[in-house]
Amino acid sequence: MTEYKIALVGFGGVNRGLAQLIAERNAAWQAALGLSLKIVGVTDLFLGSIVDRNGLDAGQLVALPAEKGAFARLPGGTAEAFNETVIKQSGADIVAEATFTNPVDGEPAATFCRWALESGIHVVTTNKGPIALHGSELKALARRNNVAFEYEGAVMSGTPVIRLARQALAGAEIQGFEGILNGTSNYVLTRMKEGLSFDAAVAQAQQLGYAEADPSADVEGYDVRLKVVILANELLNAQLRVSDVACSGISAITAHDIAQASESGHCWKLIGAAQREADGSIRASVEARLLPAAHPLAAINGATNAVSFNTALVGTVTVSGPGAGRIETAFALLSDIIALHTTDRQ
Ligand code: HSE
Repeated sequence: MTEYKIALVGFGGVNRGLAQLIAERNAAWQAALGLSLKIVGVTDLFLGSIVDRNGLDAGQLVALPAEKGAFARLPGGTAEAFNETVIKQSGADIVAEATFTNPVDGEPAATFCRWALESGIHVVTTNKGPIALHGSELKALARRNNVAFEYEGAVMSGTPVIRLARQALAGAEIQGFEGILNGTSNYVLTRMKEGLSFDAAVAQAQQLGYAEADPSADVEGYDVRLKVVILANELLNAQLRVSDVACSGISAITAHDIAQASESGHCWKLIGAAQREADGSIRASVEARLLPAAHPLAAINGATNAVSFNTALVGTVTVSGPGAGRIETAFALLSDIIALHTTDRQ
């Protein structure tokens, strides 16, 4: 049995979800997975920070209200976010990075990942920014320091996509993929098909917690574009930058367009796709596409995500499941920790 000391960087929904899983399931993991987790530090720009090398009470952390400077209420806690101290000096074996996604430069999350990897600490993250914008640099840094850098939750939260393709489909020769990679936009299109207006559907997606605070990242395709870059670089060995991917969203689709599509047995979906061309180059896009009813992604409704891998040896393989959610994304961090636990690192 291995006990990993873990530092949580960012304490919004995802790492709070991981702390909840630790509070509820650590004992069961010892028997089932051969590992347990001890939280030795937490830092959050809004809540402050706290370090205890002997271990913090996960249940107490989960119960803390989401109020500015709340960590100052705990013995040894402070209202200031001492990110570097928590990452480098809490004695952590693993940093779980779950701060906000910055689609412009990936910061400050990319720096948090660098600090950990340079210090010989494994990193698990759900953050799209550092992977899409600095993925190859961070992977190389992890290799040089002989530590893991895992990010399953960056695409489709806890639904297995990256490791499924990388491991279970290894050798199947993935030639491309197309996916519904944003829950909000799919929810909006589904509700519009049922008669709701675009604005009302977006407002509902926000109320349900699917949409970003500024939902333009969801409906204009920018969120999907980051995920397409991550998947293409990971699975097709592309070296795409975000600006290489042509991107449009669903905001121009009208109720009339949706009704017309339904009449001919089609439906509109926001599709993120990448394909290896005959000359070896990779063509990637994010755009609304009109799909026939028989298409594997046509029946994916509501906030559900799905991705179809086109392979040479097993044809099309489709996986669907949640693409967001507190516990679902926290599970992705757990799956990353299990992956690093079971990887031989000499
Ligand atoms: N806002 C995103 C979505 C969350 O709707 O899918 C997950 O990246």
